[in-house]
Amino acid sequence: MEQEKKKRILSGIQPTGTFTLGNYIGAVRNWGKLQDDYECLYMVADLHAITVRQNPADLRRMTREAVALLLACGIDPEKSLLFVQSHVPAHSQLSWVLSCSTQFGELSRMTQFKDKSAKHADNVNAGLFTYPVLMAADILVYNADLVPVGADQKQHLELARNVAQRFNSQYSPTFTVPDPYIAKAGAKIMSLAEPEKKMSKSDENANAFILLLDEPDAILRKFKRAVTDSDGEVRYAPEEKPGVSNLMTIYSCMTGKDFAAIEAEFAGKGYGDFKTAVAESVIAELAPVQAEYKRILADKAYLEGVLKEGAAHANAIADRVLSKVYRKAGFMQL
Ligand code: TRP
Repeated sequence: MEQEKKKRILSGIQPTGTFTLGNYIGAVRNWGKLQDDYECLYMVADLHAITVRQNPADLRRMTREAVALLLACGIDPEKSLLFVQSHVPAHSQLSWVLSCSTQFGELSRMTQFKDKSAKHADNVNAGLFTYPVLMAADILVYNADLVPVGADQKQHLELARNVAQRFNSQYSPTFTVPDPYIAKAGAKIMSLAEPEKKMSKSDENANAFILLLDEPDAILRKFKRAVTDSDGEVRYAPEEKPGVSNLMTIYSCMTGKDFAAIEAEFAGKGYGDFKTAVAESVIAELAPVQAEYKRILADKAYLEGVLKEGAAHANAIADRVLSKVYRKAGFMQL
């Protein structure tokens, strides 16, 4: 029997420091789980990272570390294509062409641009503005069917869909119009200090987030300090009890237990016991990831091999699409 062609998934993450527990639960951990059912392409988005100032040596190191961390989180280069964005020139090349099918007005409406330009008022560069065009190129250059993105990237994906449709109707059908991939249990992890806000590594308060490479005692300490409420009851009620509910979400993601089971487990116990249990579940889940990360990062030859192979394969796919686009755009061929 002929096998149905697997759908292609593409996602990316910026190499701007160790991922948080939120990145892990909300994105990276799921990426590994998609590998058998989809054709997966995962990218470390270093080109996107320089839209805010980066120290070059740090960016280089963080890119390598991000690759090692993705591998440690379960991305298997035998199954998925793992590569670094700047190793595939076609992303930048397509980005230019697509920028001419993108309107100034639609880029001006991007909320992330507004937020980031307010935050980095001394460096509102053109790259920050055209960032979503590069992201569209990342996706369209592989004709990806599905893109797993968090809420903060939805608007960018919508733009990529619009640009693809516009190019297709302006020239002729060229790009697959990508759909968002909505994870079944798409858990959003909130800050431990202000549970109304998303967990973010750029938070000024280091107790607000857990990093994947945090030591066990730091993880325990941060959970012990996590903001809860004063009624002392472990009960899932995100509006009324955002702190406790966030900790329950984390615990549920770590242990597979549902909220009812967690409520029963901690009925009549204080938050102290509960927080310790959450911390221990996270420590247990992250221990093998951390060990794997250290092992992989030390194996330079392996890392390089994975990236060389990933780049070669990604370039082969992307170049084919780019040359089609160049022909359609009317660029003279030699
Ligand atoms: N912009 C994304 C982020 O900051 C990262 C990213 C870059 C991406 N290119 C992508 C995500 C393509 C999905 C698809 O989170």
